[in-house]
Amino acid sequence: MSDTKKRILSGIQPSGALTLGNYLGALRNWVELSRGDEYEAFFMLADMHTITVRQTPKDFRKNAMDLLALFIACGLDPEKSPIFFQSHVPAHSMLAWVLICNTYMGELSRMTQYKDKAKKHASNLNAGLFTYPSLMAADILLYQADLVPVGNDQNQHLELTRDLANRFNNAYSETFKVPSAYNPKVGARIMSLQDPAQKMSKSDTNENGYILLLDPLDRAANKIKRAVTDSGSEVKRGEGKAGIENLMSIYGACTGKSFDEIETEFEGKGYGDFKKAVAEAVVETLRPIQEKYADLMKNKDYLKQVYKSGAERATRVANKTLAKVYRKVGFIEP
Ligand code: TYM
Repeated sequence: MSDTKKRILSGIQPSGALTLGNYLGALRNWVELSRGDEYEAFFMLADMHTITVRQTPKDFRKNAMDLLALFIACGLDPEKSPIFFQSHVPAHSMLAWVLICNTYMGELSRMTQYKDKAKKHASNLNAGLFTYPSLMAADILLYQADLVPVGNDQNQHLELTRDLANRFNNAYSETFKVPSAYNPKVGARIMSLQDPAQKMSKSDTNENGYILLLDPLDRAANKIKRAVTDSGSEVKRGEGKAGIENLMSIYGACTGKSFDEIETEFEGKGYGDFKKAVAEAVVETLRPIQEKYADLMKNKDYLKQVYKSGAERATRVANKTLAKVYRKVGFIEP
């Protein structure tokens, strides 16, 4: 393992089926960034984050294995970049405690995701939901990550991570690399197909608002065709055109075309033609992923070997940072 390569760490919660938003905002870029030789990457299934909302154990286990298979089906190479469950690497919770003791209540209270979730889960407003950003900081700092590829809803958590790294470094001497967020140029925030003011999310009560990576293909296409637009007819960005702009982002992220190119392509054509093209682009993005996923799910032994070896490799790196931190805060060496 080289010490000179830059490091990447990112994670997704196995809290339900993966959406097109998760794919275009995060996973697709993980595949891009980890493909070459520039970075050494670690990819995590953030299962400890998921229990901040009560889970049914059987469904939780299924979602976790599904997500693992999807990571690989989307193109991650587990030989090259370890893929692991957060709960298999104890260093995450062990560093989280130290960071929680260095995070201010005021900082956590300001997290918009916490405020949103607190509204949604008022009957289970547990302390984990509140301290979750400190655990996320631990996930990142343990690996001395340079870059964290995420959709832009995670940027505030990344800012806090940077603050915590600097705070610890100043108090105890240089320990953590201060990481940066990496947002994709197109697709960093995919919006609901039914309400373009809300981000696309699997917790949406309207199923037509989101596309799942495992949606049957005709269903995914229909969701695009039913997407909310506006009373105009031009495929262009602009005031009052959030629905069209969102479809342009999806189309652009799936095809690699820029907004300008898309506007030129659909000049003089109506929303019907445009939606048909978007639906096709989405279907062609999902098809190979679904085929690979179906194959992988037939081979549970392979999946098990992936997450076991992933956890071993992740643990080696994480434990190095943890040992340094424990020594610096003054814990007696065991
Ligand atoms: P999670 O599981 O909610 O989302 C996983 C990734 O998907 C991105 N994303 C989106 N991108 C664009 N448009 C959308 N509509 C959309 N919805 C979700 C998210 O930005 C994210 O990149 N706390 C994290 C998981 C986590 C993590 C970490 C991430 C735990 N530890 C350490 C990075 C590093 C979360 O709940 O993401």
